[in-house]
Amino acid sequence: MDSVIKLVVPLLLVFFSSLLFGDITGVESSKHQQEQQYSYGSTKLFAFGDSYVDTGNIKKQEAVAPWAFPYGNTYPGTPSGRFSDGRVSTDYLATKVLKIKTPIPYQWKDHAGHERLQYGMNFAVGGTGVFKTTSSNLNMTYQINLFEQVIGDVYSPSDLSSSLALVSVAGNDYLTYVAEHGGVDLGIFIFMKQVIHQTEVNLRRIHALGVKKVAIPLLQPLGCLPLFAKASSYQKCNDIINAFVIIHNNELKKVVANLNKETKQSTFMVIDYYNAFLTVFNNKGEKPGSQKFETPYKACCGGLCGSVDKNGQKNYTLCDDPMSSFFWDGLHPTQEGWKSVYSVLNLTALSN
Ligand SMILES: *[C@@H]1O[C@H](CO)[C@@H](O)[C@H](O)[C@H]1NC(C)=O
Ligand SMILES: *[C@@H]1O[C@H](CO)[C@@H](O)[C@H](O)[C@H]1NC(C)=O
Ligand SMILES: *[C@@H]1O[C@H](CO)[C@@H](O)[C@H](O)[C@H]1NC(C)=O
Repeated sequence: MDSVIKLVVPLLLVFFSSLLFGDITGVESSKHQQEQQYSYGSTKLFAFGDSYVDTGNIKKQEAVAPWAFPYGNTYPGTPSGRFSDGRVSTDYLATKVLKIKTPIPYQWKDHAGHERLQYGMNFAVGGTGVFKTTSSNLNMTYQINLFEQVIGDVYSPSDLSSSLALVSVAGNDYLTYVAEHGGVDLGIFIFMKQVIHQTEVNLRRIHALGVKKVAIPLLQPLGCLPLFAKASSYQKCNDIINAFVIIHNNELKKVVANLNKETKQSTFMVIDYYNAFLTVFNNKGEKPGSQKFETPYKACCGGLCGSVDKNGQKNYTLCDDPMSSFFWDGLHPTQEGWKSVYSVLNLTALSN
């Protein structure tokens, strides 16, 4: 298992990241701020973090995920820099919850017109953690620095009067810890404290820069990722990993509750990906908006998704119908997976 982890982790990290919604802790802040319309009058979404929210910030490199076939095959039909066959969480949060267009990736901001910039911007890059990871030297602090520069250059503080940040910390820090320590040891709990603390620092800073609401997804059940479910031939999740995730999530919820106490408002919200993912996995048809996935822990694109050898031979297998699969690759949901997760989350508090 260790050698498997060592082999797979660098790949995973690149792929990994994450975001949003489930149970929302706290009560929505009263929304009696004036609806001032500036040139950028729309609600804006600013995304930070990893591959669960990245919609195209990885530098384009043919033949490497997420810029290789079959990434993006369902939507937009060609690789778009998303770690999925199609849309990811950011797309659903923007279009279904906030009713705005998907914010432009930072990388393309100079090619976007004003019309597009009014929906906010996506700073997330696949592989990112709150700290440096095995796949990225650029931590989330770096993304927030870019955001700070953009305020002033592109947006004025008043443009943020209606804005939401989506802050995805989906597990790259932990995958890096495991890779660097050759497995899990007790030190991971000390590391967890550091991850939670740095997450708190990041949330505070994003809010201090003027973003009105800050949403942070709880960790998804990492033990159910195909990467880890593989050990049971995709029959079950790894309970030990999920137990670790629950501890992380409880700590994160405490931090968020404290932040809201400080601001005397429900500025910060957690989105319960943990339970939303489980609800979708266990759906037997009673959740109308969600697909019923027969083998939810198995990836549609198995092996080294997107990778071909020198002779053009695929190093992966592809399922017949990505719509019937919750996971796209070892770490990331399919479009249908994300869509189902969003259908079971109650995000009313975010759209107010
Ligand atoms: C993020 O990266 C920068 C540049 O390497 C570094 O100076 C900073 O200390 C890092 N922050 C964290 C929280 O790791
Ligand atoms: C891809 O598959 C070939 C065999 O088909 C194997 O030799 C090669 O190591 C694989 N590449 C990677 C990156 O695993
Ligand atoms: C969703 O959450 C809001 C509070 O944020 C609540 O008022 C509403 O009843 C919930 N809707 C459903 C369908 O549970």
